[in-house]
Amino acid sequence: MRGSLAQRSLSTVSRDSDEESSWRSIRLLKPYFRRHLLRLAGGFLALVLVDLLQLFVPRIIKYAVDLLQKGAATPRGLMQYGLYIILIAFAIGGFRFIWRQLILGFSRIVEIDLRNRMFSHLLTLDKAFFQKTTTGEVMALATNDLSSVQLASGMGVVAFVDAVFMGLAAFGFMLYINPLLTVIAVGPMPVLAFLTRTLSSRLHGRFKKVQEQFSVLTEFVRSTLSSIRLVKAYNQEEHQALRFAQMGETYVRNNLKLALVYGTLFPISGFIGNCCMLLVLVFGGRMTISGAITAGDLVAFITYLFLMTWPMMAMGWVADLFQRGVTSLSRIEAVMSVKPSLSEREAAPSVSISRGEIRVRDLSFMHPGQVELSLKGIDLHIPGGMFLGIVGRTGAGKTTLCNLLARLFAVPDGRIFFDGFDVNSISINSVRSAIAYVPQDVVLFSDTIAFNIAFGTPEASIEEIEKVAGAAAIHDEIAAMPQGYETRIGEKGIKLSGGQRQRIAIARALLLNRPVIMIDDGLSAVDMETEHAIIRSIASYLEGRTCIVVSHRIAPLADANEIVVMEKGQIVDHGPHNELVERNAFYSSIYRHQTSSGYGEDSVTGGEQ
Ligand SMILES: Nc1ncnc2c1ncn2[C@@H]1O[C@H](COP(=O)(O)OP(=O)(O)O)[C@@H](O)[C@H]1O
Ligand SMILES: [Mg+2]
Repeated sequence: MRGSLAQRSLSTVSRDSDEESSWRSIRLLKPYFRRHLLRLAGGFLALVLVDLLQLFVPRIIKYAVDLLQKGAATPRGLMQYGLYIILIAFAIGGFRFIWRQLILGFSRIVEIDLRNRMFSHLLTLDKAFFQKTTTGEVMALATNDLSSVQLASGMGVVAFVDAVFMGLAAFGFMLYINPLLTVIAVGPMPVLAFLTRTLSSRLHGRFKKVQEQFSVLTEFVRSTLSSIRLVKAYNQEEHQALRFAQMGETYVRNNLKLALVYGTLFPISGFIGNCCMLLVLVFGGRMTISGAITAGDLVAFITYLFLMTWPMMAMGWVADLFQRGVTSLSRIEAVMSVKPSLSEREAAPSVSISRGEIRVRDLSFMHPGQVELSLKGIDLHIPGGMFLGIVGRTGAGKTTLCNLLARLFAVPDGRIFFDGFDVNSISINSVRSAIAYVPQDVVLFSDTIAFNIAFGTPEASIEEIEKVAGAAAIHDEIAAMPQGYETRIGEKGIKLSGGQRQRIAIARALLLNRPVIMIDDGLSAVDMETEHAIIRSIASYLEGRTCIVVSHRIAPLADANEIVVMEKGQIVDHGPHNELVERNAFYSSIYRHQTSSGYGEDSVTGGEQ
């Protein structure tokens, strides 16, 4: 019993502090409020004018009713009062238009700017972040969460200012008519304030769950659609649909739990408003009969009470909107405050790496979250212009080494040098822009082939594009397509074969014209003969460049100046092909296996000439 009590208070504390830290994320919006101060001031001025004009109407009604009661009213006089009310209605309409333009416009500015900031920020983050965070989560932030921030900073702020001003003004007018009646009328309201406060702390947690589930849904759709081939090949359409439906149900359930909270807030505030009205009718009615106030006063009082009930009801809604906005904002801030683990030293100079000489000294590396080293004490010297081959079984650490050379993960000082510069002492871009990297997993954009080849060099001419495509042995296949280089390749190149995608990726790298070219198993999906032929045909491009080719096949590396053999994160041997075949058991066994299993015998002997 005591244990459960202690537990409960603990969870309340953590919820409160969670909520508090959420409210702190408002600082993300501060600059916008500052920058658009004038716009906001104009908007709120129009808003307050609308309220004031609305507050005038009951006064006019009061005079009309009092005239009627005294028997002094004339049709002409009443007509005049009616006209005032219409004029006021026009003015209200005009000002309402203005505040909507200004304040809701502000919330749209915030939304788009926050979205742009988020996108730019995401582009600065590294592999480590994207391994932890799913694309679906990020997409949910950019859609659902941003729109709840937009709603809170637009309609939420309006409703809040409106409610406070209108509530206070109506309260003032009511006091002016009769203080005693006012105190009686607003008697039940503290109950409402208490209720709103209590329920709104619930809103936070529940709304967070809703948004998180939406992230899960989004990610599921994305990953299913992006691997639609696999889903179909494995007949998993129904199964995936079922899982999606289950996730959808959880989403609805979370939403219903949330609706339960604010669903109670609205009826209760409405009920309390009506209780106030009842009190006014009973006590105000008596005062009118006894002559303490006029009939006009009572009518005006009731109208003010109406004007005040809306702000009261709005408070519940505003609390909900703010709570959602702040919850979403803190989700966004969590991403915005992620610092790339790979960051540049301040004032790291940009240097131009022209020789392409690479030195690796005693480099060990462990992937974040892993317990075993993926690389152990790697030492390498690659003089500028060398063709280095890397072979090794899957998992040997070849891709890890390439990623480290391409500066995709952070490395300690004194481990990797380009042209004699420690990579940590120069800007990240100096290194990256020295390397044309063809990663193991080819990435293509859902655009044209020409766009994909010229991705790193948008200014390239079509002749240049065709030339590199020719070198990568893909030109003929592209030319045979009805739209040639303008063929759109569908999402992630879904319309192309694996080998075609890889050759496009190689053409893209060739076009970059950089001192170092690094191909990580970039031709695994083409047959051995083609692979060898491509390595040969790009040889003229590789002339004078440092060239690192990772392959799980030996044939294409036959021309390499040196080949290193990797096993379990270590370099176990290195030397030219002829020597390795003679002395390295592992190397000669895969060589024999690849040559004797019947495929590509010729190309291998060809490579040995
Ligand atoms: N992103 C990653 N996160 C965690 N571990 C990884 C990651 N990438 C590779 N590894 C691990 O590092 C080791 C080397 O992998 P990798 O460099 O991809 O080898 P190769 O390219 O030679 O097949 C493997 O044990 C693998 O499990
Ligand atoms: Mg690999």
